[in-house]
Amino acid sequence: MCYCRSRVSFKKIKIKIMLIKEFKRPISNKIVPIGPGLNKYQIILATETSCDETAAAVVLNGRKVLSNVVASQIDIHQKFGGVVPEVAARQHLESINIVIEEALKQAGITYKDVSAFSSTVGPGLVGALLVGLNAAKTLSLVHDKPFIGVNHLNAHVCANYLGSNFEPPFICLLVSGGHTQLIKVSSYSEQELLGETLDDAVGEAYDKVARLLGLPYPGGPFLDKLAHEGDKKRFKFTQAKVDKYDFSFSGLKTATLRVCQQFKEDELPKADVAASFQETVSETLIKKILIAAEENNVNKVAIAGGVAANSEIRRKLFDLANQGFEVNAPEFKYCTDNAAMVASTAYFLSNIMEELDIEVFSRVKSK
Ligand SMILES: Nc1ncnc2c1ncn2[C@@H]1O[C@H](COP(=O)(O)OP(=O)(O)OP(=O)(O)O)[C@@H](O)[C@H]1O
Ligand SMILES: [Mg+2]
Repeated sequence: MCYCRSRVSFKKIKIKIMLIKEFKRPISNKIVPIGPGLNKYQIILATETSCDETAAAVVLNGRKVLSNVVASQIDIHQKFGGVVPEVAARQHLESINIVIEEALKQAGITYKDVSAFSSTVGPGLVGALLVGLNAAKTLSLVHDKPFIGVNHLNAHVCANYLGSNFEPPFICLLVSGGHTQLIKVSSYSEQELLGETLDDAVGEAYDKVARLLGLPYPGGPFLDKLAHEGDKKRFKFTQAKVDKYDFSFSGLKTATLRVCQQFKEDELPKADVAASFQETVSETLIKKILIAAEENNVNKVAIAGGVAANSEIRRKLFDLANQGFEVNAPEFKYCTDNAAMVASTAYFLSNIMEELDIEVFSRVKSK
């Protein structure tokens, strides 16, 4: 009996050691442990500037969001029909200090209360990433606190921890503007890529189809809204036949274009096209989540990324609760780019995160 108990506590200690990484303060070289399993408050101030949102946030112990400030550039890029990288970088420069100051103010803390600074290092637009990264690195140097560099995709997944008690293991579907991935989250410290899109990301497909329908940029939310007014059975699109964990949306995009070409511009049944497209996408995504969950013997499923804000995908995902799954989706404000998810990642995935000498990167290496 006694032997058993000591084995259990040994196991716990081992888990604690695995989750906590020790980061250095850049000036004094003092060691600061970061991660779950420590019985103390850890406040992380993070920045996120990978694309067209300048964001800063303060998060306590990876879950409690003390502030989440996002300055969107959508209005600026809308007239170009997409993000212009150089314009985005310049705009981040204009906004970053204001956004960080506001995040501190709304959290009601000072730099003294911060345990570590963090920032997205990639993937994203290099010029844009450099702004947030250098701001956080500078704060780390000035205030002699550790710096933790975070992968944007890990961060979208960790958005599931914000303001929730959701815990691994779970299967996460990451659907964003640039990525579509199925990820197995075995523990806080492990995110394994099971499969991904072979061509367009779901968000990209949404934006392109929305453009065909004459909707403004970014098209995803507008197409989602329009789809509610349409008949989802009017057009039958076939789902791509690819490996069980992979995705492909370029065929669907072309099929949608062909349908649009059958009509004169003023006779195009836009809402029916939107509804039929959305039905095919959401059915495909949910089917893949189910395969991954069943084959990996996991009964928790989650979603992440900007497209996770989609009403039909969320509805179908939460329907899985009727099949015995525990389901989670981040609040809307944590689906699209934000810095709270970056702070959460710095805390939970600190064991694999890099320190002050890390550089930005634009793309993830393929599996
Ligand atoms: N309700 C919605 N329905 C469908 N798509 C949506 C919805 N809301 C947002 N999107 C899409 O989400 C995408 C933006 O998501 P996000 O900000 O996560 O992407 P990103 O950061 O540009 O890409 P990545 O995270 O892959 O680098 C856009 O393509 C947008 O159209
Ligand atoms: Mg993103």
